Amino acid sequence: MASPVTVQYMRDWGKHAHGSPLYATLVDVVSADAELMRVINRIEHQLPPNLLFAAVQYLLMEGADDDLSRFYPSLTTDPDPPEGVGPHFRRFVLEHEEQIVEIGNTRYTQTNECRRCIALLPMVMMAPFDSFHLVDIGASAGLNLAVDRYGYRYDVAQWHTDASLVLEAEWRGAPVALREVEVVGRTGLDLNPLDPYDVSARRWLDALIWPEHHERRARLRSALELVSTLEMEMVGGDATDTLPVCLDNLAPGVPVVMMSSFTLAQFSPAQRDRLETVLSDARAHRPVHSISMEALEKSDDWAQLVVDDGSGTRIVGQAHPHGEWVEIYP
Ligand SMILES: C[S@@+](CC[C@H](N)C(=O)[O-])C[C@H]1O[C@@H](n2cnc3c(N)ncnc32)[C@H](O)[C@@H]1O
Repeated sequence: MASPVTVQYMRDWGKHAHGSPLYATLVDVVSADAELMRVINRIEHQLPPNLLFAAVQYLLMEGADDDLSRFYPSLTTDPDPPEGVGPHFRRFVLEHEEQIVEIGNTRYTQTNECRRCIALLPMVMMAPFDSFHLVDIGASAGLNLAVDRYGYRYDVAQWHTDASLVLEAEWRGAPVALREVEVVGRTGLDLNPLDPYDVSARRWLDALIWPEHHERRARLRSALELVSTLEMEMVGGDATDTLPVCLDNLAPGVPVVMMSSFTLAQFSPAQRDRLETVLSDARAHRPVHSISMEALEKSDDWAQLVVDDGSGTRIVGQAHPHGEWVEIYP
């Protein structure tokens, strides 16, 4: 259950909303209004402000016919300035309070940023095998399971640029040879997997993206199209329980690349230890190359890139959290 949302909490949250003039305004609107503060405090899942704003955008995207839409750059090409949004937002939230609270208490902030693949791909390339089963821990809608299906345009190298979605990023540091690999199967593990075929799951992922972030939204939609053509298995539950079963079910000896991005911070220390045990047990039966892109400390500005082929963890680089650049250490 989330801690109570205070005015100070909203203000602190608002310091990170500079990428969205609309949400920066709405933070002031909500924190100055006792009724809106009451509604946000009915949301029990983590990150109530994200869930409140996403729930409202979700209902508008679903087709709620309301003047509030005029303020959303995601819903109109010529939005009204955010300054006037307050009374419209207040009325909408109070009119849809039960729906918003239900969405906030049944859904999670499960953004799925496929551009993180710009940092996952070089670590996949460090695997000591060319053909493998791919497992993603904290897969959300499985967008990173298509790491080998996107195209990449780094400023120093290109890979499969004829793909339907080409990810662009700045490459810093040492070069890594990009070769052909064969993914023989794909498994996504998540507490709450999102089905990329499901209209409401797709809309929820869309609604989690801030209204002004057109590029991320276009990338999400394009990645969902690509992923929904792939065969992959999505398994619900705590990955520390589902991973051993998933690995046991693979043909003996098939190598595995196991990846995670922005997931392990949500694991308790006991879950991280358990994950290590599952991996070392699995390595008795097959090669497992694990790769992670994680920012485990709250103060971390960049994600650390870590690989482990069984001989011990190696920090191989760092990357922007949403994949704007990747740096591989020499
Ligand atoms: C911030 S999202 C990151 C999603 C994706 N990896 C990405 O980079 O876009 C974290 C995901 O981890 C999942 N998660 C958290 N704890 C988990 C656990 N113990 N087992 C499986 N999945 C978990 C959440 O449900 C969520 O979908």
